[in-house]
Amino acid sequence: MAYESIIVEIEDHVAIITLNRPDALNALNSQLLQELSKALGEADANDKVRCIIITGSAKAFAAGADIKEMSDKSFVDMYMSDYFEPAMRTISNVRKPVIAAVAGYALGGGCELAMMCDFIIAGENAKFGQPEINLGVIAGMGGTQRLTRYVGKAKAMDMHLTGRFMDAEEAERSGLVSRVVPPKKVLEEARQAAEKISEKSLLASIAAKQAVNRSYETTQEEGLLFERRLFHSLFATEDQKEGMSAFLEKRSPQFRDR
Ligand code: CAA
Repeated sequence: MAYESIIVEIEDHVAIITLNRPDALNALNSQLLQELSKALGEADANDKVRCIIITGSAKAFAAGADIKEMSDKSFVDMYMSDYFEPAMRTISNVRKPVIAAVAGYALGGGCELAMMCDFIIAGENAKFGQPEINLGVIAGMGGTQRLTRYVGKAKAMDMHLTGRFMDAEEAERSGLVSRVVPPKKVLEEARQAAEKISEKSLLASIAAKQAVNRSYETTQEEGLLFERRLFHSLFATEDQKEGMSAFLEKRSPQFRDR
């Protein structure tokens, strides 16, 4: 399918989805969110794809939900359409690993989109923020919940209440991003991480993602049980035999997702 607000490229086993509304700093309007949901669904279902990257431009990953599109909406419009929820659900339910490669602004819904990904690689020029308070609203795509889990209550409150931005250095220190690299290297770094992930068994990658995500949803005891059950279940796979044999035979494993 041809997209207007995003660009989708598949390189080897990696789907790279680039948000592409340069005139609006990649603001997330309905069209972009629908296209992104569709492209992620397609990448998730494509047997060739083993890892997905979402990225933006050098200046903006995304500067938030589209304020022009939202400004005239009423409560009833927002409530009846459950604005953002269908897209959020699809994006956060992708089973394959998803990396956010963030340069420049990741604000409001942009920060929230990055946080829906499995981890964030940031350029030194990245700026994260939840400035919705300046617009007379609050975050609506998960920011009050996910940012708090990433960086803790003190910084989350600070950002949501003052609307201040967090630079890449602070974001890494606070646990929001996993790596910081020079802005020009963001996509390359994400691509290398995605290629490394693509070499693993996809069965194990999906299990690892599910188990880590579970830690946010349940008690530690239940989470540990969930992890153990997944760990045990991987012993039913050919990839476990291959991975362990390859180690013992001092060769690289050839995983087949079986
Ligand atoms: N929605 C719509 N358009 C946006 C936008 C947004 N979120 N962010 C930027 N743009 C547009 C601007 O209107 C401008 O368009 P025009 O040239 O047609 O006027 C263009 O992008 C470039 O922006 P600026 O001229 O403002 O660029 P700048 O470099 O001076 O400033 C910025 C950059 C600090 C990111 C500033 O654009 C800004 O503050 N943007 C809004 C950030 C924001 O409030 N995000 C939260 C949105 S609400 C939300 O996301 C809700 C939610 O939780 C889901």
